Amino acid sequence: MTNAQRPLLKRLFIETHGCQMNVYDSERMRDVLAPLGYAPVGAPDDADLIILNTCHIRERATEKVYSELGRLRDLKARRAEAGVKTTVVVAGCVAQAEGEEIMRRAPVVDLVVGPQAYHKLPELIARVARATGERVAADFTPDEKFDALPAPKAEGVTAFLSVQEGCDKFCTFCVVPYTRGAEYSRPLEKVLAEARALAAQGVRELTLLGQNVNAWHGATGEGEATFADLLRALAKVEGIARLRYTTSHPVEMSDDLVALHGEEGKLMPFLHLPVQSGSSRILKAMNRKHTAEDYVAVIARLRAARPDIALSTDFIVGFPGETEKDFEATLALVREVGFASAYSFKYSRRPGTPAAAMQGQVDDEVASDRLARLHALLGEQQRAFNAAQISRTLPVLVAGKGRMPGQMHGRSPYLQSVHFDGAPDLVGRTIDVRISGSTQNSLAGALVSAERVSA
Ligand code: 5AD
Ligand code: SF4
Repeated sequence: MTNAQRPLLKRLFIETHGCQMNVYDSERMRDVLAPLGYAPVGAPDDADLIILNTCHIRERATEKVYSELGRLRDLKARRAEAGVKTTVVVAGCVAQAEGEEIMRRAPVVDLVVGPQAYHKLPELIARVARATGERVAADFTPDEKFDALPAPKAEGVTAFLSVQEGCDKFCTFCVVPYTRGAEYSRPLEKVLAEARALAAQGVRELTLLGQNVNAWHGATGEGEATFADLLRALAKVEGIARLRYTTSHPVEMSDDLVALHGEEGKLMPFLHLPVQSGSSRILKAMNRKHTAEDYVAVIARLRAARPDIALSTDFIVGFPGETEKDFEATLALVREVGFASAYSFKYSRRPGTPAAAMQGQVDDEVASDRLARLHALLGEQQRAFNAAQISRTLPVLVAGKGRMPGQMHGRSPYLQSVHFDGAPDLVGRTIDVRISGSTQNSLAGALVSAERVSA
């Protein structure tokens, strides 16, 4: 391309809400728009193209999109007065679920694009620029999307790698099976090629992503491949020192996957495994396909395989029909399992999901009160888990500079953020850090010895 043909530099601002899949997708959108001359900027104010990558999982998240669009309407009007055009795009799960509604409610929006059509963004944006053509992108199958998007560019020692999308579980509270569609696994060879490309760029830790990541399945030359087979293959990729995966479903914790936690040292001893409730009655109404006892049994199997495994989970409080007794069963499960960290949410009624039409919707005040009690217990456990690391020596993968001058930071095997004094050339290495302090969210410590630094 000659200079005369090279497009002028345009500014792109992407605001990402929701899950790590969206963080991943935002990076892909940035990559796919770069050849059109779009360079990312840190704020919307002087951006020519603004993309809201949205999350539909709770009602509050959807409402946030509309209030954000209100602010963008003013921004767009101000820029228009100054003679510059702003293009506003809504992407992500709200786009998928409410495309027509967004165009109706928020005329500021130029284009709505669902998660399966990001590879078409350049074309769609070009069409908007000419103010012609369709405004809502059609659906594509996920493999078309993955194949058409450029390979990810690594920006550090840790990276996400999307291996699976969609969900066939149909929990009665959840929009994901409707917005992200059916479960789809990327082929083994493509995942491996992407992992090799990331490792070659300096990535040392991979987190495999999927709405139901442990439902991944594929094929090898010899036959069927399980998710454990995929992890085993990735552990052999040169340069990859650590593997993680998120988010898992308890019913997909197969024996070979559990066993792998005890066999594969690169698989980190920390697992996010959502349980949602400690009441089997509520779990049934949620269509979770497991009881509270099943969940506790999975944890016991994991701990038998890998005694130091730390756990994280998700809870929903105030699901329709939840009584005080059901909620107490949730608190009891928390006490029984013991979590290193957890997310807890108030049930949010999502139109179109079966739970939205259920009897016994819980009073907001009751749900808020339960959420506060659950938060308090989970916060206590998280602080205790972090404090228990004091005086231990942990292998820390160094990710970059810390907040203070001379300070570096990295992650422990349990995904805790660790700060210590050290030199920037440690980035990308796994070093021993002796932990001396803790808060609810991070650890502080000191480098044990430069000699014990491993590659
Ligand atoms: N209301 C509240 N929380 C929800 N989640 C999913 N759908 C809802 C809903 N309708 C939570 C679940 C899930 C996490 C990603 O979001 O806990 O595991
Ligand atoms: Fe939603 Fe349930 Fe699927 Fe998770 S497993 S994405 S909560 S339907």
